[in-house]
Amino acid sequence: MEGKVVEVQAAWREGAHVDDAQYRALYEASVSDPDAFWGEHGKRIDWMTPFTKVKNTSFEPGRVSIKWFEDGKTNVAYNCIDRHLETRGDQTAIIWEGDNPDESKHITYRELHAQVCRMANVLRNRGVSKGDRVTLYMPMIPEAAYAMLACARLGAIHAIVFGGFSPDSLASRIQGCTSKVVITADEGLRGGRKVPLKANVDAAIKRIGTDLVEHVIVVRRTGGSVEMEPGRDVYYDEAAEQVTDHCPAEPVEAEHPLFILYTSGSTGQPKGVVHTTGGYLVYAAMTHQYVFDYREGDVYWCTADVGWVTGHSYIVYGPLANGAITLMFEGIPTYPSTSRFWEVVDKHKVNIFYTAPTAIRSLMGGGEGPVKKTSRASLRVLGSVGEPINPEAWEWYYNVVGDKRCPIVDTWWQTETGGILISPLPGATALKPGSATRPFFGVKPEMVDAEGKVLQGPCEGNLCIADSWPGQMRTVYGDHERFEQTYFSTYPGKYFTGDGARRDADGYYWITGRVDDVINVSGHRMGTAEVESSLVAHPKVAEAAVVGYPHAVKGQGIYAYVTLNDGEEGDDALRKELVVWVRKDIGPIASPDLIQFAPGLPKTRSGKIMRRILRKIAEDDFGALGDTSTLAEPAVVEDLIENRQNRP
Ligand code: WT7
Repeated sequence: MEGKVVEVQAAWREGAHVDDAQYRALYEASVSDPDAFWGEHGKRIDWMTPFTKVKNTSFEPGRVSIKWFEDGKTNVAYNCIDRHLETRGDQTAIIWEGDNPDESKHITYRELHAQVCRMANVLRNRGVSKGDRVTLYMPMIPEAAYAMLACARLGAIHAIVFGGFSPDSLASRIQGCTSKVVITADEGLRGGRKVPLKANVDAAIKRIGTDLVEHVIVVRRTGGSVEMEPGRDVYYDEAAEQVTDHCPAEPVEAEHPLFILYTSGSTGQPKGVVHTTGGYLVYAAMTHQYVFDYREGDVYWCTADVGWVTGHSYIVYGPLANGAITLMFEGIPTYPSTSRFWEVVDKHKVNIFYTAPTAIRSLMGGGEGPVKKTSRASLRVLGSVGEPINPEAWEWYYNVVGDKRCPIVDTWWQTETGGILISPLPGATALKPGSATRPFFGVKPEMVDAEGKVLQGPCEGNLCIADSWPGQMRTVYGDHERFEQTYFSTYPGKYFTGDGARRDADGYYWITGRVDDVINVSGHRMGTAEVESSLVAHPKVAEAAVVGYPHAVKGQGIYAYVTLNDGEEGDDALRKELVVWVRKDIGPIASPDLIQFAPGLPKTRSGKIMRRILRKIAEDDFGALGDTSTLAEPAVVEDLIENRQNRP
């Protein structure tokens, strides 16, 4: 498959922002003189105080510091809304498509302005000001975007928690950033099913105790009945009636935090990734324009949830900074039928469509029929994100969904990177199915071997980035040392992505997946350590080890090896109980797919679990276990193989 090249079609080049020669020239300029390049492109947003300094960054161990445009002042909400009012006040900013196909609406930039100002005033009346953290636990409704932008307008820092996380996960994130205000909805609605968001907030606060959260603002989505704590809880519509729709946008320093987003790592609790104002917005907006080749008037749809970074950068901030029309979808790909995505494309004449490989794979199973009964003539560019897209899914996306007319931009990036780092550009880059291709402007990928030696030419190794780009995360909230330790200590002086990759003779990058103890389930990151600590908290569990294994739809599935306490019997009932336990503890995305009860785990004589062996057995590839001579008890391996769960 590596040999296959899909050349840039003449139609992709026509009217595109850049062709191949322009890409090469701009890329060269961006890495040879970052100050000049970003000094110019930093002006794509409006500054209340213009910057005079551009790049001030160091990846040096012990002194990691990342600042862009540091003496400038601006406001993200101003850039996403106010500056468009004169030229496109009556243009649609957000198309909202409800879970129910009969429900949708258009929100103009002028309406967005009024709504965001109202939400900001509701927050301000509750004491929220610059630097305060506000936790959002929201369904995919326009109020989620209003709340994000309202925080940005005040200089407050939002921390969104995906609606699929459990009350316990929500509680630890509220505590992690000490939010006094939580914005939620009565219930969410997905695939016709209700999600008890407010009840989950109540449970989270119960766990935290009453002295942290002072206000819970509840948007009415379903109208379902929820408990309202007097003095603490207020319905948003009632609070909004009390305020005006005028609220000035607070100018903040370029390095003022815009948001915190928790993400899983290989160890410990999820980290609060901090993104700041100026560099983040410049980078999100610029990548949105070039990677999707966004053009004036295009209808752009990213199917992510605002609970993930993709929703932050490519549903809300990047598109709105560009004055784009961005579609926000409340539902799921399979409701009411598996044609839903394509029906929405036709209904709203979507030009650019951005989704995850797992969604493509789940729809592939239903064949071409549900796709082909729709027109999709409006589509021009297709995007993929979240995990490597396997060539079979790529071909289906390209041939069936895009009718061989639309380029696929396979965008590689991370919560930490703020925006896309490696991706084709539609008018410029010949495509190879399965490759994220070439770096974006200003991005310097470096391949290193296990010893940290920088590799040249075609190679396979660990993917690092040699220098800073404006959208990079700045720190781990409240723990700068952990930031340095996690990303800059493995290969001192470089940002280590945690991903393995291959670079081919054309300089194209092929991401092969995580090389750390992070697994990628349906494009969502999960730390194996988190699932393990949840499992061992169960009273019947003595020890647990969790690894990923190849899963036809999810990309990776969660495989748990569980050792029970003496006297406990492992059976299907207990398997179910453990799945329910983990779902309740972390959330449905952490549900183990396979559980193997194991009398012992393979350990070195010093007691370290040999995950390499566990991964191989979970992959059903035990013929190649490698060296097992350092095991304390080699016999446990035979039992593990004997009772493996992943059999064809
Ligand atoms: C990890 C980051 C960034 C948005 C969604 C995920 C994997 C992401 C690709 C891609 C191969 C990809 C990597 C990365 N990943 N996009 N196009 N090709 N792998 O964000 O939760 O921070 O996860 O997702 O392994 O490290 P995230």
